[in-house]
Amino acid sequence: MSELKGNSVIISGVGSFTPPKVLSNNDLSKIVETTDEWIRSRTGIRERRIADDDMTTSDMAAQAGKEAIQNAGLETDDIGLIIVATVTPDMPFPNTACFVQKKLGMGKIPAFDIEAACSGFIYAMDVARGLMAVNGTKHALVIGAEKLSSITNWEDRTTCVLFGDGAGAVVISKSDKEDVGILNILTGADGSETDILMVPGGGSASPSTVETIERSMHKIQMQGNQVFKHAVRVMCQSASDVLEKSGLTADDVDIVVPHQANNRIIEALAQRLNVGLDRFKINLDRYGNTSAASIPIALDEAYRNGRIRPGDNILMVAFGGGLTWASAVIRWQ
Ligand code: ACO
Repeated sequence: MSELKGNSVIISGVGSFTPPKVLSNNDLSKIVETTDEWIRSRTGIRERRIADDDMTTSDMAAQAGKEAIQNAGLETDDIGLIIVATVTPDMPFPNTACFVQKKLGMGKIPAFDIEAACSGFIYAMDVARGLMAVNGTKHALVIGAEKLSSITNWEDRTTCVLFGDGAGAVVISKSDKEDVGILNILTGADGSETDILMVPGGGSASPSTVETIERSMHKIQMQGNQVFKHAVRVMCQSASDVLEKSGLTADDVDIVVPHQANNRIIEALAQRLNVGLDRFKINLDRYGNTSAASIPIALDEAYRNGRIRPGDNILMVAFGGGLTWASAVIRWQ
């Protein structure tokens, strides 16, 4: 689907939802041995949002989705497809998109999830536009939503300082307009690196037992240094490739909306791409890493702050567990 060329599928609506509860670095320093200074200097994160126990991923996804549909000027009945990108589904099945469908009272349309970790949102847009090309769907709701607090090991200071909860959504729509919309999406993965970032328990490899719980196998495990190294390399490569495929250079990029994992990764990306940091949308200081939700939350914020204007070239780029990576160039209508 990455080969599909299209300038007639636009982002017609954006929305997001983040839970009100704020967990600051100082709050975290009371849970694990860490400091605000360490977290800020190593990651750029100051605080993150945490969902209450009774708030599910689909609750957040539905709120973000509702806002995106309203922003597009559409009704829920206009939507022909729902895809939710998430690593924290409400449950193994039914899929999260079906819960969103129920919560928003939507029609009996296809609804399913995609799991490509932090790259999931861009993967989901690629799948949505591919399906729209073959099945006549005019409008698709694509959501990235995560309750990462539910798979965070709150005793592991090397990971628990990084993550947050939230959801972002877009409606993508077919359009008669020329030369706007999704110009290109590239996706990729390297399954030889499955070990460096994972939640090893609870699947068919290690079904839940008392032992898997005692060994924290249902929580995120990460080799941070390894992930960092790969992240910079694959994000740079993917971003360069998608620009080249779109016939654009770094100078043509008006705004970069990167996956919000770590300021230092974003700074390395900016330097290697030769795009000034002032052209990057960064909000990880307030939300941390929200995995598949990070790009659509940042996109929504950039749009509402007036940073995205008609004709702007938007570069999105992400990496995540798998390893997976993805990039997109979108020209705003
Ligand atoms: N507070 C204080 N000290 C800490 C903390 C903390 N929260 N965490 C680790 N340290 C200590 C370590 O124990 C280590 O101490 P030592 O030297 O005595 O052994 C020291 O700080 C340095 O640790 P490093 O791991 O080398 O620190 P680094 O500079 O690499 O930063 C970080 C760690 C922030 C995790 C970085 O590697 C990173 O951002 N990696 C990428 C993470 C990422 O983007 N993951 C994406 C996952 S998203 C998904 O797919 C769900």
